[in-house]
Amino acid sequence: MVKGVPITASYFCQNNHLTVSLMSVIIEPFRIKSVEPIFFTTKEERAAILRNASYNPFLMRAEHVMIDLLTDSGTSAMSSAQWAGVMLGDESYAGSKSFFHFEKAIQDITGLPIVIPTHQGRAAEKILFSQLGGKGKFIVSNTLFDTTRANIEFSGATGVDMLCAEGKIPSIPAPFKGNIDIVALEAFIEEKGAENIPLCIITVTNNSGGGQPVSMQNIRDTSVICKKYGIPLFLDACRFAENCFFIKMREQEFANMAVAKIAAEMFSYADGCTMSAKKDSFANIGGFIALRDEKLALECRNLLIITEGFPTYGGLAGRDLEAIAIGLHEVLDENYLQYRIRSTEYLTEKLIAAGVPVMQPAGGHAVYLDAKAFLPHIPPSQYPGQALACALYREGGIRSVEIGSLMFGKYDNEGALIPAMMELVRLAIPRRVYTQSHIDYVAEIIIQVFQHRSAIKGMKIVYEAPMLRHFTAMLEEIE
Ligand SMILES: Cc1ncc(COP(=O)(O)O)c(C=O)c1O
Repeated sequence: MVKGVPITASYFCQNNHLTVSLMSVIIEPFRIKSVEPIFFTTKEERAAILRNASYNPFLMRAEHVMIDLLTDSGTSAMSSAQWAGVMLGDESYAGSKSFFHFEKAIQDITGLPIVIPTHQGRAAEKILFSQLGGKGKFIVSNTLFDTTRANIEFSGATGVDMLCAEGKIPSIPAPFKGNIDIVALEAFIEEKGAENIPLCIITVTNNSGGGQPVSMQNIRDTSVICKKYGIPLFLDACRFAENCFFIKMREQEFANMAVAKIAAEMFSYADGCTMSAKKDSFANIGGFIALRDEKLALECRNLLIITEGFPTYGGLAGRDLEAIAIGLHEVLDENYLQYRIRSTEYLTEKLIAAGVPVMQPAGGHAVYLDAKAFLPHIPPSQYPGQALACALYREGGIRSVEIGSLMFGKYDNEGALIPAMMELVRLAIPRRVYTQSHIDYVAEIIIQVFQHRSAIKGMKIVYEAPMLRHFTAMLEEIE
């Protein structure tokens, strides 16, 4: 997809020079070799499917979804080179050739010398926070992703978000709404003591905060503070390439620099990273920890062997390691990144033109609807984001995910809901999967739902799990 005007992501950065071509139509930088059918459903069928799934899109069968924007995680289309890599995968238990390809790709891109494979991002988090977390500790971040927070809390530590002020207001456009609040960070370290803060982790781009990027300047500033207090700085690097393309578009100093070089600088400030390879390496499964500290690596590997597998496969098949190694290089293609970032921008523009409240500017991997403004008649205690996600499915078979009080809400001592900071609905765009007409259809359905929004009802939870409740919660509409 991606019809329309040239990429406008540069509007924050004057005199920006793209190394990629500026065309009035930005075409998909690939041809389609293999296709997968979509099954069509009627509105009546979808109403019944929704009821049977207890109004939770996670609980429905994927074949009942027409356009699946639940996640960009593990849903990418792999390239022919990656599929060829799958055939070349070395499945040796120890010392697989594919591991060394995987290790080299990560070392080349990040400059981090030690690479520990895991079966996905949360496994990397579990291992890292088992070593660094624990009771009385605080892990600070711009915004922790839900699995990251859950793994921190599971270790007994507390996760603390310190998003910059502009990142908390969906309607205000700003270039780097994923930045961490540097002043708040230093004040927090002073208050709690550096000895109680084993790690600062910056999520690039900031998934839970609208897929918004973090500037290089902000990463530099964070690194200075972390060094001053002796706190290791890590990146949650799931969408590192998308973040680096935003830096190129929006931070003057990087306008003429190759994205690969920008990535090298970004990782140079980090002591390590975790990554879910299901995002910016186009793989269907995979993850890793990369780091500099030998002692920490040794401890992580010990746990890896118990929970994931031998250090040269870490829960992955050789074929997965090979596909990830290839994908990590493909993602740095600036023609791809231009098309990718323009895709979300295109959908966001269509929605803004129709008056639909969306997070501005567009994020890297997803479009975020502001459910609070979309459905002002539904209070946070009745989960407006979930109500909107259900309405999108009922109207057009589009699956999205609530990122609001169902995902992040907590209860106070009296059992009253402490709502999330924002009530968002995320439409995550799988990489290299949907064409422009799919996205035009998505825009049409959202606009239709917006025009009839007053008829949408609030929701109540009838079942919830103690952690990560949004995955399995069961809900009902409030009549
Ligand atoms: C920012 C971020 N961190 C961590 C994860 C966890 O990765 P995985 O789903 O591979 O466990 C995700 C997944 O969506 C993510 O977006």
